[in-house]
Formats: sequence, structure tokens, C-alpha cells
Amino acid sequence: MASTIVSLISILLICIAIAQGKNTLYTTKEFSVSSSVNNDGICKTIVETQGYICEEHTVTTEDGYILSLQRIPAGRSGKNATKPPVLIHHGLFCDGIIWLLNSPEQSLGFLLADNGFDVWIANGRGTKYSSTHTSLSPNDMAYWDWSWDELAGYDLPAFVHYVYNHTGQKMHYTGHSQGTLIAFAALSQGKFLDMWRSAALLSPIAHMKLIPSKLTRAAADLFLANDLYWLGLHEFVPYQDVAIKLIEGLCNTLGVDCGQILPLITGPNCCINSSRIDFYLSHEPQKTATKNLIHFSQMIRTGKIAKYDYVNPLLNVLHYGQVVPPTYDVTKISSEFPIFLGYGGQDFLSDVEDVKILLNEVNAQNSTNRVVSFKEDYAHIDYIASFNATQGVYDTMISFFNAH
Ligand SMILES: *[C@@H]1O[C@H](CO)[C@@H](O)[C@H](O)[C@H]1NC(C)=O
Ligand SMILES: *[C@@H]1O[C@H](CO)[C@@H](O)[C@H](O)[C@H]1NC(C)=O
Ligand SMILES: *[C@@H]1O[C@H](CO)[C@@H](O)[C@H](O)[C@H]1NC(C)=O
Ligand SMILES: *[C@@H]1O[C@H](CO)[C@@H](O)[C@H](O)[C@H]1NC(C)=O
Ligand SMILES: *[C@@H]1O[C@H](CO)[C@@H](O)[C@H](O)[C@H]1NC(C)=O
Repeated sequence: MASTIVSLISILLICIAIAQGKNTLYTTKEFSVSSSVNNDGICKTIVETQGYICEEHTVTTEDGYILSLQRIPAGRSGKNATKPPVLIHHGLFCDGIIWLLNSPEQSLGFLLADNGFDVWIANGRGTKYSSTHTSLSPNDMAYWDWSWDELAGYDLPAFVHYVYNHTGQKMHYTGHSQGTLIAFAALSQGKFLDMWRSAALLSPIAHMKLIPSKLTRAAADLFLANDLYWLGLHEFVPYQDVAIKLIEGLCNTLGVDCGQILPLITGPNCCINSSRIDFYLSHEPQKTATKNLIHFSQMIRTGKIAKYDYVNPLLNVLHYGQVVPPTYDVTKISSEFPIFLGYGGQDFLSDVEDVKILLNEVNAQNSTNRVVSFKEDYAHIDYIASFNATQGVYDTMISFFNAH
């Protein structure tokens, strides 16, 4: 049965690929707003328009990706930050704009600045404002040859070193979703302890074995991302025809109503302002590497937090010097390092059962350096876009920063 579905979907995919006749094709049908956004940079587009000072910065990773960072060095009053820097990192399919899309009182990027912090907003490789490289172009397949291993191993250190060097201060870190996974990976290797004061990790992604979304699980079980990769689609564009058709096909196969695609994947978000959704869609979603999605599907199938599995033992040996990809051991994260964890009862990606395993592994019950905030009614997107995340989560998180 499963193999029949796989071959049916593969045939469907091949048809789409032939019909398109190229590696990437941007359709504007459903997300036409995505292409109409001006290219002025995040400061001009969305920060200065709200009356804040904003600086554009770039940093080049060791593997040549040129990434943008925005700094909000002062609150709306114009008063310079009196508190340490906070580096904030978005999740999968998002970029730094995600922290700025609601009103200043509701958006973490502005809220931190108004609370006296020196705010630094990261944009990971492949997103709209971080899409250049010292020698590659996004049209090259090689540009998309990465997964979150590289986000943890190259992008994050580049951002952290840049902010540390530029400000001369230890910083706090906030990540959402994939932005938490790369922090867990780095912290498990003992990185950043000399440069980070603390980390606040919202909708934490670590173990993914128990995720309840039928759709996400089926995509992982059917190796859909692998199919795309072998068809030569190394750049994954979520608003592209091939992605939309793929998801529609899967919904039909599973008999689920895909009119409600976001809650099917992220869980039922309680507190998103429905009159702002068109505005969100004018800035998100962002592209990612198909290889990154393969890496996530490996996590869903195995439940492990490990490096990308090349499957072929020779390739694993070539990359890692061993047949099996090395794991990231979150139990190694120092109990001396302060961590805030925020997770929601309705989240289908950072689902409660998987998060419980993580909480146990990072000794979350030890109240000395751990703060856990659980919101029964929040799902994945509520942590970045809900109209009451300030009261729900950010206020507690800011108190945690102030205490460290
Ligand atoms: C704020 O900081 C900027 C640069 O860091 C400096 O030029 C300016 O004088 C400061 N403003 C105040 C009011 O301290
Ligand atoms: C830190 O800053 C100094 C002076 O601005 C610069 O010379 C140095 O290369 C920087 N180091 C890193 C790791 O960015
Ligand atoms: C929802 O968004 C609209 C339009 O931007 C805004 O006028 C309204 O105040 C928002 N509602 C809440 C609860 O934040
Ligand atoms: C709790 O963490 C502190 C350091 O942060 C450590 O000294 C202590 O042993 C831990 N307690 C337990 C029960 O693990
Ligand atoms: C957020 O708003 C929802 C819907 O109005 C409400 O049920 C929930 O209690 C609110 N949460 C917080 C923390 O204010």
C-alpha cells in the first residue's frame, strides 16, 4: 500500500517537473503578494516605518554565505539601549521579519527594544534578505546544499561572533522552532557559553518522533523531500506550484481537508489576528533547502537529534568519519547555563510528548537555571504572531532576561 502511494506520488512529481522543465518556477497564483514586496531591506520596510532607529548589518559565514542582521539599538522613545544585546533567530520558512509583523506592543523585536535591550535580528541563509554568497548564486544547486547542521555550524556562530564583537557584550538569545534546534545543537557541543548570558527557546524543536500531524508524518514516511531532491529540486519554495500540488496530492491521499493547511501542520493556533493574515503572507513564507526538509523527515522517522544522514555508509564516513551520523546530545548542555523554554499544548510540531522528553534531558525540573512556560491554548505560530504573546510569554521571558 505504502509503496503504491510512493510510486503514485513519484509519478505525479515527475509529471510536474517535466511540465515545468526547470529547477525552480515561481508561481504567483496563491501568494502573489510575496513577489510584490520591495527590496529595500528590513529596516526600511518595516522598522523605521514604526518610528524606530534601525541599522542594517551583514556577516559572511565561513562557507561564504552573506547574511543580513538588523539592529534596533534604541526604543521608540529614542533612548539608547541600557540592557545587553538580544540575538533573535526565526524558524523554518520564516525570516527576521516574523518578529516585527504585529503592533510594536505585540511584536517581540519592538517589545525588546522598548524594554531597553539592544535587539539584533538574524536572517538565515536562503531567506529573502540573506540570499547572496561570495561565489555561488541561489540559481546554483550547490547554494542549496545544506541542512540545519550548517545553520547551527556556520550561520549561528557567524551571527553570535558578529554581535559579540560589535557590542563587546555577552548576549541573550531567543529562538523559535528551527531557531531553537540550532541553539540546542550548538549548546550541546559546549559552544557560546562564553558569549551567551541565557537562551529563551520558544516552540522548541528537538525530538520529533511523536508529532501528531498526519500530514507531516506522511510526508516524512513517504520520503517526499527525498523525491524532490532526486528530481533536482534542491531549492524548496513553499509557494511554488510543485510544493502546492505535492501537498494537495497528499491531502487527497490522506482524505484530509487542506483548506486548513496551516493548522494541520502547526496545530490550531488560538490567537492569530485573522485580519492580518494577508499582511503576513506578503512577507512569508521563505524558501529553504530541500536537503533541510530531508533532514527534518529523518528526525521524524528516527526521533533522534543527529547530523544529516547520507544513508550511504561511505558518504557518512566521508563526512563524519563514521558509518552512523553523530548525534547532538542535549543532556550535555551545562546545568549552569540559564534556559527558558516556552511550549504550547496545541502545538503539532513541538508537541507536548516530544517536548517532555526534551525537558527531561535538559533537566528542566531544576529551577536554578531553568524556567518552563507552558500555555495550554498555544500552538506553534502563536509563539511568534499571536496578539497576546506579550502577556502569554514575552513578559515572563523578559523577566527571565532581566534576572540573568
Ligand atoms: C546613542 O548611541 C549612539 C551610537 O551608539 C550615540 O552616537 C548617541 O550619542 C547615543 N545617544 C544618547 C542619547 O546617548
Ligand atoms: C572583531 O572586530 C575587530 C575590530 O572591529 C576586527 O578586527 C575583528 O576581525 C573582528 N573579529 C571577528 C571574529 O569578527
Ligand atoms: C488585528 O489587526 C487589525 C488590523 O491590523 C488591528 O486594527 C486590530 O487592532 C488587531 N487586533 C488585535 C486584537 O490585535
Ligand atoms: C541544579 O543545577 C545546579 C546548577 O545550576 C546544580 O548545582 C545542581 O546540582 C542541580 N540540581 C540537580 C538536582 O540536578
Ligand atoms: C489570549 O487570547 C485568547 C483568546 O481571546 C484567550 O483565550 C487567552 O486566555 C489569552 N491568553 C493570554 C495569555 O492572555
